Amino acid sequence: MKLKATVKSIKFAGSIIKKGGLVAFPTETVYGLGADALNKEAVAKIFEAKGRPRFDPLIVHIADLFWLKKLTREVDERTMSLIKKFWPGPLTLVLLKSSIVPDIVTAGLDTVAIRMPSHPIARKLIKLSQTPIAAPSANIFGRLSPTTATHVEKQLGEKIDLILDDGKCPIGIESTVLSLVGKKPFLLRPGGLPLEEIEKVIGKVAIQSKTNPPDRSGRERAGKTRPTERCQSFGRVQSPGQLLNHYSPKTPLKIIKSLKEIPSGKNIGILFFKKSSFSIKNQTIKILSEKGNLREAASNLFSALHQLDESGVKIIYAESISESGLGRAIMDRLRRASKKE
Ligand code: TXA
Ligand code: MG
Repeated sequence: MKLKATVKSIKFAGSIIKKGGLVAFPTETVYGLGADALNKEAVAKIFEAKGRPRFDPLIVHIADLFWLKKLTREVDERTMSLIKKFWPGPLTLVLLKSSIVPDIVTAGLDTVAIRMPSHPIARKLIKLSQTPIAAPSANIFGRLSPTTATHVEKQLGEKIDLILDDGKCPIGIESTVLSLVGKKPFLLRPGGLPLEEIEKVIGKVAIQSKTNPPDRSGRERAGKTRPTERCQSFGRVQSPGQLLNHYSPKTPLKIIKSLKEIPSGKNIGILFFKKSSFSIKNQTIKILSEKGNLREAASNLFSALHQLDESGVKIIYAESISESGLGRAIMDRLRRASKKE
Protein backbone atom coordinates (compact mmCIF):
# COMPACT_ATOMS: atom_id res chain seq x y z
CA MET A 1 0.00 0.00 0.00
CA LYS A 2 1.26 3.48 -0.88
CA LEU A 3 0.04 6.48 1.12
CA LYS A 4 0.89 10.14 0.83
CA ALA A 5 2.94 11.12 3.88
CA THR A 6 0.62 12.99 6.28
CA VAL A 7 0.47 13.23 10.08
CA LYS A 8 -2.06 10.40 10.03
CA SER A 9 -0.20 8.08 7.66
CA ILE A 10 3.13 8.64 9.45
CA LYS A 11 1.44 7.66 12.75
CA PHE A 12 0.11 4.55 11.06
CA ALA A 13 3.59 3.82 9.70
CA GLY A 14 5.02 4.19 13.23
CA SER A 15 2.52 1.65 14.52
CA ILE A 16 3.56 -0.80 11.77
CA ILE A 17 7.24 -0.44 12.74
CA LYS A 18 6.37 -0.98 16.43
CA LYS A 19 4.53 -4.18 15.53
CA GLY A 20 7.51 -5.52 13.60
CA GLY A 21 6.38 -4.64 10.06
CA LEU A 22 8.16 -3.06 7.08
CA VAL A 23 7.70 0.55 5.96
CA ALA A 24 9.40 2.27 3.02
CA PHE A 25 9.97 5.94 3.75
CA PRO A 26 11.64 8.95 2.13
CA THR A 27 14.98 10.27 3.32
CA GLU A 28 16.98 13.16 1.85
CA THR A 29 19.19 10.60 0.02
CA VAL A 30 17.02 7.71 -1.24
CA TYR A 31 13.93 5.85 0.00
CA GLY A 32 14.72 3.43 2.83
CA LEU A 33 13.06 0.12 3.72
CA GLY A 34 12.64 0.36 7.48
CA ALA A 35 12.07 -2.02 10.38
CA ASP A 36 12.59 -1.78 14.15
CA ALA A 37 16.38 -2.13 14.47
CA LEU A 38 16.06 -3.77 17.89
CA ASN A 39 13.64 -6.46 16.70
CA LYS A 40 15.55 -9.21 14.92
CA GLU A 41 12.52 -10.89 13.38
CA ALA A 42 11.46 -7.55 11.88
CA VAL A 43 14.98 -6.96 10.53
CA ALA A 44 15.00 -10.46 9.01
CA LYS A 45 11.97 -9.42 6.92
CA ILE A 46 14.06 -6.64 5.30
CA PHE A 47 16.59 -9.20 4.04
CA GLU A 48 13.78 -11.42 2.73
CA ALA A 49 11.92 -8.62 0.94
CA LYS A 50 15.06 -7.28 -0.76
CA GLY A 51 16.64 -10.65 -1.47
CA ARG A 52 19.65 -9.22 0.31
CA PRO A 53 22.36 -11.59 1.55
CA ARG A 54 22.61 -11.74 5.33
CA PHE A 55 26.30 -10.80 5.30
CA ASP A 56 25.48 -7.26 4.14
CA PRO A 57 24.96 -5.08 7.25
CA LEU A 58 22.28 -2.37 7.55
CA ILE A 59 22.37 1.29 8.51
CA VAL A 60 20.55 2.21 11.73
CA HIS A 61 18.64 5.49 11.49
CA ILE A 62 18.14 7.67 14.56
CA ALA A 63 16.47 11.00 15.24
CA ASP A 64 18.31 12.05 18.40
CA LEU A 65 21.69 11.60 20.07
CA PHE A 66 20.19 9.60 22.95
CA TRP A 67 20.20 6.58 20.64
CA LEU A 68 23.76 7.17 19.46
CA LYS A 69 24.97 6.54 23.02
CA LYS A 70 22.75 3.48 23.42
CA LEU A 71 23.86 1.84 20.18
CA THR A 72 27.62 2.38 20.45
CA ARG A 73 30.41 1.62 22.92
CA GLU A 74 32.55 4.65 22.31
CA VAL A 75 32.07 8.08 20.73
CA ASP A 76 35.34 10.01 20.48
CA GLU A 77 35.96 13.70 19.76
CA ARG A 78 36.62 13.09 16.07
CA THR A 79 33.18 11.49 15.78
CA MET A 80 31.50 14.30 17.72
CA SER A 81 33.08 16.97 15.52
CA LEU A 82 31.62 15.29 12.41
CA ILE A 83 28.23 14.88 14.07
CA LYS A 84 28.12 18.53 15.08
CA LYS A 85 28.87 19.64 11.56
CA PHE A 86 26.97 17.13 9.40
CA TRP A 87 24.08 15.56 11.34
CA PRO A 88 21.28 15.43 10.53
CA GLY A 89 22.35 14.73 6.94
CA PRO A 90 23.78 12.30 4.37
CA LEU A 91 26.67 10.96 6.49
CA THR A 92 26.69 7.42 7.92
CA LEU A 93 29.26 6.68 10.63
CA VAL A 94 30.56 3.18 11.36
CA LEU A 95 31.30 2.90 15.08
CA LEU A 96 31.87 0.15 17.68
CA LYS A 97 28.50 -1.37 18.49
CA SER A 98 26.91 -1.93 21.88
CA SER A 99 25.33 -5.23 22.90
CA ILE A 100 21.75 -4.03 22.28
CA VAL A 101 22.28 -4.04 18.50
CA PRO A 102 21.15 -7.44 17.15
CA ASP A 103 23.77 -9.35 15.14
CA ILE A 104 21.47 -9.59 12.15
CA VAL A 105 21.66 -5.79 11.75
CA THR A 106 25.46 -5.73 11.63
CA ALA A 107 25.97 -9.11 9.92
CA GLY A 108 27.93 -10.23 12.96
CA LEU A 109 30.43 -7.35 12.83
CA ASP A 110 31.54 -5.58 16.00
CA THR A 111 30.60 -2.28 14.37
CA VAL A 112 27.33 -0.56 13.57
CA ALA A 113 26.57 2.01 10.86
CA ILE A 114 24.49 4.92 12.17
CA ARG A 115 22.90 7.86 10.40
CA MET A 116 20.64 10.71 11.49
CA PRO A 117 18.62 11.68 8.40
CA SER A 118 17.48 15.26 7.90
CA HIS A 119 14.29 14.51 5.97
CA PRO A 120 11.33 15.68 8.09
CA ILE A 121 9.20 12.61 7.25
CA ALA A 122 12.02 10.21 8.17
CA ARG A 123 12.60 12.07 11.43
CA LYS A 124 8.91 12.05 12.37
CA LEU A 125 8.62 8.36 11.58
CA ILE A 126 11.66 7.47 13.73
CA LYS A 127 10.34 9.58 16.63
CA LEU A 128 6.85 8.10 16.46
CA SER A 129 8.24 4.57 16.23
CA GLN A 130 10.16 5.21 19.50
CA THR A 131 12.97 2.99 18.30
CA PRO A 132 15.93 3.23 15.91
CA ILE A 133 15.04 2.11 12.38
CA ALA A 134 17.28 -0.23 10.39
CA ALA A 135 16.91 0.65 6.72
CA PRO A 136 18.75 -0.21 3.54
CA SER A 137 17.76 1.48 0.30
CA ALA A 138 14.27 0.26 -0.65
CA ASN A 139 15.23 -1.64 -3.80
CA ILE A 140 15.76 -5.29 -4.72
CA PHE A 141 19.34 -6.23 -3.84
CA GLY A 142 21.81 -5.12 -6.52
CA ARG A 143 19.28 -3.01 -8.45
CA LEU A 144 18.95 0.74 -8.83
CA SER A 145 18.17 2.68 -5.67
CA PRO A 146 14.74 4.34 -5.44
CA THR A 147 14.44 8.12 -5.38
CA THR A 148 10.63 8.18 -5.68
CA ALA A 149 7.84 6.17 -4.02
CA THR A 150 6.91 4.81 -7.47
CA HIS A 151 10.40 3.31 -7.85
CA VAL A 152 9.82 1.50 -4.52
CA GLU A 153 6.35 0.37 -5.52
CA LYS A 154 7.60 -1.19 -8.75
CA GLN A 155 10.35 -3.19 -7.07
CA LEU A 156 8.90 -4.06 -3.66
CA GLY A 157 5.23 -3.01 -3.67
CA GLU A 158 3.79 -6.41 -2.90
CA LYS A 159 6.35 -7.44 -0.33
CA ILE A 160 6.04 -4.66 2.22
CA ASP A 161 3.35 -3.28 4.54
CA LEU A 162 3.43 0.40 3.57
CA ILE A 163 5.15 2.96 1.37
CA LEU A 164 5.10 6.55 2.63
CA ASP A 165 5.10 8.80 -0.42
CA ASP A 166 6.71 12.22 -0.24
CA GLY A 167 7.79 12.66 -3.84
CA LYS A 168 11.37 12.91 -4.96
CA CYS A 169 14.35 12.61 -2.58
CA PRO A 170 16.23 15.94 -2.64
CA ILE A 171 19.82 14.58 -2.68
CA GLY A 172 19.05 11.47 -4.72
CA ILE A 173 22.25 9.53 -4.02
CA GLU A 174 22.98 7.41 -0.93
CA SER A 175 24.77 8.70 2.16
CA THR A 176 28.55 8.77 2.45
CA VAL A 177 29.68 5.84 4.65
CA LEU A 178 32.71 6.58 6.83
CA SER A 179 34.34 4.11 9.21
CA LEU A 180 35.71 5.63 12.42
CA VAL A 181 36.83 2.46 14.19
CA GLY A 182 40.43 2.40 13.02
CA LYS A 183 43.22 4.88 13.65
CA LYS A 184 42.59 6.53 10.31
CA PRO A 185 39.06 7.37 9.17
CA PHE A 186 38.15 5.23 6.16
CA LEU A 187 35.74 6.11 3.35
CA LEU A 188 33.68 2.97 2.70
CA ARG A 189 31.25 4.51 0.21
CA PRO A 190 31.32 7.94 -1.45
CA GLY A 191 27.87 9.54 -1.26
CA GLY A 192 25.78 12.64 -0.73
CA LEU A 193 28.33 14.35 1.51
CA PRO A 194 31.53 15.07 -0.47
CA LEU A 195 34.79 13.70 0.94
CA GLU A 196 36.36 17.18 0.73
CA GLU A 197 33.82 18.47 3.28
CA ILE A 198 34.69 15.67 5.72
CA GLU A 199 38.43 16.25 5.31
CA LYS A 200 37.97 19.92 6.21
CA VAL A 201 36.80 18.78 9.66
CA ILE A 202 38.96 15.72 10.46
CA GLY A 203 41.86 15.85 8.00
CA LYS A 204 42.96 13.11 5.61
CA VAL A 205 40.60 10.18 5.10
CA ALA A 206 41.83 6.85 3.70
CA ILE A 207 40.03 5.70 0.59
CA GLN A 208 38.90 2.19 -0.19
CA SER A 209 40.40 0.77 -3.35
CA LYS A 210 41.17 -2.66 -4.74
CA THR A 211 44.67 -2.44 -3.33
CA ASN A 212 43.59 -0.80 -0.11
CA PRO A 213 40.49 -2.57 1.22
CA PRO A 214 39.65 -2.18 4.89
CA ASP A 215 39.53 -5.28 7.07
CA ARG A 216 36.19 -6.76 8.05
CA SER A 217 35.69 -4.31 10.89
CA GLY A 218 36.38 -1.18 8.84
CA ARG A 219 39.98 -0.55 9.87
CA GLU A 220 42.76 0.10 7.44
CA ARG A 221 44.94 -3.00 7.06
CA ALA A 222 48.48 -2.89 8.37
CA GLY A 223 51.06 -3.57 5.67
CA LYS A 224 50.54 -4.36 2.04
CA THR A 225 47.57 -6.26 0.71
CA ARG A 226 48.53 -9.59 -0.80
CA PRO A 227 47.42 -9.99 -4.40
CA THR A 228 45.08 -12.84 -3.44
CA GLU A 229 43.25 -10.51 -1.08
CA ARG A 230 42.56 -7.96 -3.75
CA CYS A 231 39.63 -9.73 -5.28
CA GLN A 232 36.33 -8.71 -3.76
CA SER A 233 35.05 -11.87 -2.21
CA PHE A 234 32.13 -11.79 0.18
CA GLY A 235 34.05 -12.78 3.26
CA ARG A 236 36.69 -10.13 2.90
CA VAL A 237 34.81 -7.09 1.75
CA GLN A 238 33.99 -5.14 4.83
CA SER A 239 31.06 -3.34 3.23
CA PRO A 240 29.44 -5.74 0.82
CA GLY A 241 27.61 -2.70 -0.54
CA GLN A 242 30.98 -2.21 -2.20
CA LEU A 243 30.45 -5.22 -4.42
CA LEU A 244 31.13 -3.94 -7.90
CA ASN A 245 27.87 -4.96 -9.53
CA HIS A 246 25.71 -2.97 -7.13
CA TYR A 247 23.19 -0.32 -8.22
CA SER A 248 22.72 -1.89 -11.65
CA PRO A 249 20.14 -1.14 -14.28
CA LYS A 250 19.01 -4.25 -16.21
CA THR A 251 20.32 -2.65 -19.41
CA PRO A 252 24.09 -2.83 -20.03
CA LEU A 253 25.82 0.49 -19.35
CA LYS A 254 29.12 1.75 -20.72
CA ILE A 255 31.00 4.77 -19.41
CA ILE A 256 32.53 6.89 -22.16
CA LYS A 257 35.27 9.50 -22.03
CA SER A 258 34.44 11.05 -25.38
CA LEU A 259 31.14 11.47 -27.15
CA LYS A 260 32.81 10.12 -30.26
CA GLU A 261 32.62 6.66 -28.68
CA ILE A 262 28.83 6.60 -29.19
CA PRO A 263 27.97 4.56 -32.28
CA SER A 264 25.06 5.44 -34.49
CA GLY A 265 22.17 3.00 -34.55
CA LYS A 266 18.83 2.38 -32.96
CA ASN A 267 17.91 1.57 -29.37
CA ILE A 268 20.77 3.43 -27.78
CA GLY A 269 20.32 5.43 -24.58
CA ILE A 270 22.64 8.27 -23.67
CA LEU A 271 23.17 9.78 -20.24
CA PHE A 272 24.69 13.23 -20.50
CA PHE A 273 26.04 15.09 -17.49
CA LYS A 274 25.14 18.47 -19.03
CA LYS A 275 23.49 19.89 -22.10
CA SER A 276 25.40 18.99 -25.19
CA SER A 277 25.22 20.00 -28.81
CA PHE A 278 25.90 16.37 -29.68
CA SER A 279 22.80 14.67 -30.99
CA ILE A 280 22.10 11.54 -32.92
CA LYS A 281 18.75 10.68 -34.43
CA ASN A 282 16.70 7.93 -32.80
CA GLN A 283 18.56 8.11 -29.51
CA THR A 284 16.97 8.31 -26.09
CA ILE A 285 18.83 11.05 -24.27
CA LYS A 286 18.74 12.05 -20.61
CA ILE A 287 20.55 15.10 -19.29
CA LEU A 288 21.44 15.08 -15.58
CA SER A 289 21.78 18.84 -15.29
CA GLU A 290 21.41 21.31 -18.18
CA LYS A 291 24.02 23.62 -16.66
CA GLY A 292 26.28 20.87 -15.33
CA ASN A 293 25.48 21.44 -11.66
CA LEU A 294 26.71 18.46 -9.59
CA ARG A 295 23.96 18.64 -6.97
CA GLU A 296 21.27 18.66 -9.59
CA ALA A 297 23.02 15.87 -11.51
CA ALA A 298 23.28 13.64 -8.41
CA SER A 299 19.62 14.19 -7.61
CA ASN A 300 18.60 13.09 -11.12
CA LEU A 301 21.02 10.18 -11.55
CA PHE A 302 18.91 7.23 -10.37
CA SER A 303 15.70 8.62 -11.91
CA ALA A 304 17.42 9.00 -15.26
CA LEU A 305 18.81 5.46 -15.05
CA HIS A 306 15.38 4.08 -14.08
CA GLN A 307 13.86 5.87 -17.10
CA LEU A 308 16.53 4.72 -19.55
CA ASP A 309 16.20 1.18 -18.18
CA GLU A 310 12.46 1.22 -18.86
CA SER A 311 12.70 2.91 -22.26
CA GLY A 312 13.60 -0.30 -24.08
CA VAL A 313 17.09 0.76 -25.17
CA LYS A 314 19.62 -2.06 -25.57
CA ILE A 315 22.61 -0.19 -24.17
CA ILE A 316 23.21 2.99 -22.19
CA TYR A 317 26.25 5.20 -22.81
CA ALA A 318 27.08 7.42 -19.84
CA GLU A 319 29.34 10.46 -20.04
CA SER A 320 32.11 10.37 -17.44
CA ILE A 321 32.76 13.39 -15.23
CA SER A 322 35.52 14.60 -12.95
CA GLU A 323 35.73 12.83 -9.59
CA SER A 324 35.61 15.79 -7.26
CA GLY A 325 32.85 16.78 -4.85
CA LEU A 326 29.65 14.87 -5.64
CA GLY A 327 31.32 13.76 -8.90
CA ARG A 328 33.05 11.01 -6.89
CA ALA A 329 29.74 9.45 -5.79
CA ILE A 330 28.19 9.85 -9.25
CA MET A 331 31.14 8.10 -10.93
CA ASP A 332 31.14 5.38 -8.24
CA ARG A 333 27.47 4.56 -9.00
CA LEU A 334 28.06 4.68 -12.76
CA ARG A 335 31.03 2.31 -12.47
CA ARG A 336 28.94 -0.15 -10.45
CA ALA A 337 26.07 0.18 -12.93
CA SER A 338 28.52 -0.67 -15.72
CA LYS A 339 29.69 -3.93 -14.13
CA LYS A 340 27.82 -7.14 -14.70
CA GLU A 341 28.12 -10.29 -12.60
O1 TXA B 1 21.48 7.03 2.09
C1 TXA B 1 21.54 5.91 2.59
O2 TXA B 1 22.57 5.50 3.18
C2 TXA B 1 20.32 5.00 2.43
C3 TXA B 1 19.17 5.62 3.23
C4 TXA B 1 17.95 4.75 3.25
O3 TXA B 1 19.61 5.91 4.52
N1 TXA B 1 20.61 3.68 2.89
C5 TXA B 1 21.43 2.84 2.22
O4 TXA B 1 21.55 1.60 2.80
O5 TXA B 1 22.00 3.14 1.19
P1 TXA B 1 22.20 0.34 2.07
O6 TXA B 1 21.93 -0.81 2.94
O7 TXA B 1 21.70 0.27 0.69
O8 TXA B 1 23.73 0.65 2.11
C6 TXA B 1 24.39 0.62 3.36
C7 TXA B 1 25.87 0.49 3.17
C8 TXA B 1 26.23 -0.87 2.59
O9 TXA B 1 27.32 -0.65 1.69
C9 TXA B 1 26.68 -1.65 3.83
O10 TXA B 1 27.57 -2.67 3.49
C10 TXA B 1 27.32 -0.53 4.65
O11 TXA B 1 26.49 0.58 4.45
N2 TXA B 1 27.35 -0.87 6.08
C11 TXA B 1 26.32 -1.02 6.93
N3 TXA B 1 26.73 -1.37 8.16
C12 TXA B 1 28.08 -1.42 8.11
C13 TXA B 1 29.10 -1.71 9.06
N4 TXA B 1 28.84 -2.04 10.32
N5 TXA B 1 30.37 -1.65 8.64
C14 TXA B 1 30.64 -1.30 7.37
N6 TXA B 1 29.74 -1.02 6.41
C15 TXA B 1 28.47 -1.08 6.78
MG1 MG C 1 21.51 -0.03 -1.28
